[in-house]
Amino acid sequence: MKITVIGAGVVGLSVAYELASRGATVGIVDARGVALGATHATAGMLAPHIEAHSDALLTLGVSGLALYDDFIARLRHDAQQAIDYRRTGTLQVGRSAAEAQALREASQRLTARRTPHALLDAAGARLMEPALGDVAGALHIPEHGYVAVPGMVSALVAALARRQVAVSRAQVTDPTSLDADAIVIAAGSWIGDLLPPGPTVPVRPIRGQLLHLRLGRPPASRVLWGERCYIVPWQDGSVLVGATTEDVGFDETPTVAGVRELLDAATELLPELATASFHEVRAGLRPATADELPIIGQSATMRRVFYATGHYRSGVLLSPFTAGAIGDLILEGRARPELELVRPDRFGL
Ligand code: GLY
Repeated sequence: MKITVIGAGVVGLSVAYELASRGATVGIVDARGVALGATHATAGMLAPHIEAHSDALLTLGVSGLALYDDFIARLRHDAQQAIDYRRTGTLQVGRSAAEAQALREASQRLTARRTPHALLDAAGARLMEPALGDVAGALHIPEHGYVAVPGMVSALVAALARRQVAVSRAQVTDPTSLDADAIVIAAGSWIGDLLPPGPTVPVRPIRGQLLHLRLGRPPASRVLWGERCYIVPWQDGSVLVGATTEDVGFDETPTVAGVRELLDAATELLPELATASFHEVRAGLRPATADELPIIGQSATMRRVFYATGHYRSGVLLSPFTAGAIGDLILEGRARPELELVRPDRFGL
């Protein structure tokens, strides 16, 4: 079966990798190149129990996380590349009495779902992460983690190349004009370029700015999450600090205000970051739908077209899930039950 994937972000690459692994003949097209949309500025945090603000997103996120070990093991093997992927857990930090109370309430919800976690007082939090600044309480969720996305992208590209799948630079305006048995739209915020006149574009870009700092050694042992920022410490001493959430249209420019906000928040959480070197700031456009759930499944209006887009803040977390679900759908005609939550026809697609 011949399949074209439109979009070379982490979702499009993962979908292409899955399809090619299962024997399809796959091509990828992207107007801009590899990993230049939301993927460009993602911290690769794998933390559904913190990030999901709806039951539906939590269901998807938990499914996505459950697939990660296997997906990365396969990818490391196929690409013959190392990927910094670790289930370090997250430590959510409350700096005030009100924030600590919110963590107690989060702990009750986790208990109800039987999700392993530990609620800590200030001393317990400091025992886990001695470099923390002010802390009133904390919530530890051990199954969370992160993947270093540049390494994951590089491995996806290498694994695809070994299956003779390359990314072509081209602007597609009509997916139905492509010579393929199936077309997967994974164009993130740029989905509007591909839709026929008629349906309202169901995705809007939300800018996220992400800082990349460096220290001689990791300042924390796990992902830290505060009210105003999150911090992802890589094993090599790189420290990612994210992220802003800005509704500014198709503007990918980092700003002084964004950098200042993140630096203030990060040094509050981990004061020693004031001594870190400043490596870079990145900005990417997250594709947000009205209900903040992705759009995954077959088009109701274009028979050969499938959507794998609109992943907003969860593209990295959901990549293995979306890739597997699209593979099942196109190659086996089988719909995973979770796809009921993310049907394209809820937006008339
Ligand atoms: N998932 C992290 C972010 O969107 O900032």
